[in-house]
Amino acid sequence: MKRVLERVRETVEKDQETKSKLKDICMILHDELKGYDWVGFYLVENGELVLGPYVGKPTEHTNIDFGEGICGQAADREETFLIDDVKREQNYLSCSPKVESEIVVPIFKEGDVVGEIDIDSHQRSRFGDEDEKLLEEIAEMVGKIL
Ligand code: SME
Repeated sequence: MKRVLERVRETVEKDQETKSKLKDICMILHDELKGYDWVGFYLVENGELVLGPYVGKPTEHTNIDFGEGICGQAADREETFLIDDVKREQNYLSCSPKVESEIVVPIFKEGDVVGEIDIDSHQRSRFGDEDEKLLEEIAEMVGKIL
C-alpha cells in the first residue's frame, strides 16, 4: 500500500497533463492491487458525472446523474460507498456481470465534489478499511490537481 501511494504521489507531481496523470494512476492501482479489476475516474461536468480516464473493459455508463447508481449516490451524499455484494443493491448500474464488489470515493475541491475514483472487483467483499484509507488519500491528492 505504501509503495502504491508513493507511485501515485510521484505521478501527481509529474510535469504532464492532468488526464494523463489520471490514466497513470488507474494503471498503477490496476496493476499493483489484486482484484482491482476496473479502475476509473468520473469527473463532474455540468452537474453530472462524466467518465474520465479508466483501465478495464469499456462501460456504457459514461454519464451518470447525481443519485443514480453507486457512483451517483456517493456524489450526492458526499461520502465513500463500499459495496460488498453489488447483486444486493437496488440502486446500482451494472458494467459487467462479473463484478461482485465496488468502492466509490468522492474527490473534493474546496468542499465540493468534483469527481470520484470508482473501482470494481470480480471478488466478493474485496474492499475494506485499508482500501478506503488508500483511496481517500489518493482522492485528496487528485483534488489538488483538478
Ligand atoms: N457501478 C457503477 C457504475 C459505474 S461502473 O462500475 C464502471 C454504479 O452503480 O454507479
